[in-house]
Amino acid sequence: MAECEGVTVARHVSFSEGVGTSPTLTLPTGPGHSWQVPPRYDVRQIIGTGAYGSVCEAFDHEHNRLVAIKRVDDMFEDLTDCKRVLRECAILSKLHSENVVALYDIVAPRDMNTFEELYMVMEICDTDLKKLCRTDVSLTALHINTLLYNLLVGLNYLHSAGIYHRDLKPANVLVNQDCSVKICDFGLSRAIHDAKLDLEDLPNTPRGYDGAQQLVPVGRHTQRLTRALTRHVVTRWYRAPELILLQEHYSEAIDIWSVGCIYAELLGMLEGTRVQDRGPLFPGSSCFPLSPARRHRTDHRFHTRGSHDQLNVIFDLLGTPTAEQVGQLERDDAKRYVRCSAERAGRGFASKFPHVNNGAIELLEMTLRFCPQERATVAALLDHPELREVRDPARETKASHFISLNFEKEPDLDQWLLRKHFLDEARRYHPELPEVDAHVACARDHGYATNPAIAGA
Ligand SMILES: Nc1ncnc2c1ncn2[C@@H]1O[C@H](COP(=O)(O)OP(=O)(O)O)[C@@H](O)[C@H]1O
Ligand SMILES: [Mg+2]
Repeated sequence: MAECEGVTVARHVSFSEGVGTSPTLTLPTGPGHSWQVPPRYDVRQIIGTGAYGSVCEAFDHEHNRLVAIKRVDDMFEDLTDCKRVLRECAILSKLHSENVVALYDIVAPRDMNTFEELYMVMEICDTDLKKLCRTDVSLTALHINTLLYNLLVGLNYLHSAGIYHRDLKPANVLVNQDCSVKICDFGLSRAIHDAKLDLEDLPNTPRGYDGAQQLVPVGRHTQRLTRALTRHVVTRWYRAPELILLQEHYSEAIDIWSVGCIYAELLGMLEGTRVQDRGPLFPGSSCFPLSPARRHRTDHRFHTRGSHDQLNVIFDLLGTPTAEQVGQLERDDAKRYVRCSAERAGRGFASKFPHVNNGAIELLEMTLRFCPQERATVAALLDHPELREVRDPARETKASHFISLNFEKEPDLDQWLLRKHFLDEARRYHPELPEVDAHVACARDHGYATNPAIAGA
């Protein structure tokens, strides 16, 4: 495989510097005293924040290495969010690929009945692709193809384990100076073996109807959901059309779409391009079915005419789908929505990216197709001549079996069962932890059956 060096990226690039006379925010750079981790971990600076918590760099004195620790707080505030964190732990602990971030440790909770935070200790990377894209650094075609290839090797492994990532975006792709790539953030991932890939658990894809048959978000607005909704628009930039259109049946092709968006963003960093011209390929700011304007919530024409509608930003480049492709959509409201878009041919990738070669244009065309069935598989992409120079088939490892998560089968995953499952996950790293029958212990210690405050938590 071709060596790929020479990208100089600062570890954990910071964006807090003020520009000119603009006011600056003083952001915390350290974790404070609230991080309850064993003394073997010397917690240093904050290197990332997201919807679910913050990530710090730490030194692990037991293994003499730097690690990243992700802290999730207020774990049981919202049980849907809590289940996502459990999924992330359970999936990550079962994945073993050089292109998926390694989970080294789950800090053992001090008291299984009362713990509210979780600490995941992971291998640390220099930065992520979102930070890299915001840095004044240009990439060569070799860098970009190496990054894409490494990402595809990771995705190939994930799909072979029956895992759909469902939230691939630059911030969730960690990267090192040698162009190695580690996929992270499995909070929205699902194991297909456990079937039911319900859209309900994808934040920002509301599914409920209110009395007026308008699509409105379901569920309480917890602090975390509010945080996720603030990121609403950003998250959808990398989301495949079938997810935007709330199709129930989707496939691993959703991740291929995201890879195409990420690749396009990397191509914007090719030598000779300007930093201010960089950015996401499809930066929509509103989309089906939510509307920023309540008055027009059901008026599809109003939205699809706008130049910022997520799907219409996509159609500007790809062209509108054919009548046959629209006909294949599952939902009538989705069909109506797409049909409202003014028919057009689309600008096309070659015109949008005049500076890239034909091979790269072909890769974009293979990944960014409206119809998931027409999108290339990971295998086809790995095999593309554009990646021949960087390919090393020996690295394209696959999982030996599909991953299955035992808690997905639990019909009633309440707080105490969740606590038990977290303990089971922590026990993989700490076999000395005692096994507890969650319900028995918690009913005894907290009056679970009789105390409505706890029972309804
Ligand atoms: N292992 C790691 N090494 C370096 N940076 C990391 C690591 N894990 C996470 N980060 C940084 O923290 C950010 C948030 O982490 P992530 O797991 O995506 O959490 P969230 O679910 O809150 O989005 C990432 O976008 C990245 O910048
Ligand atoms: Mg993330």
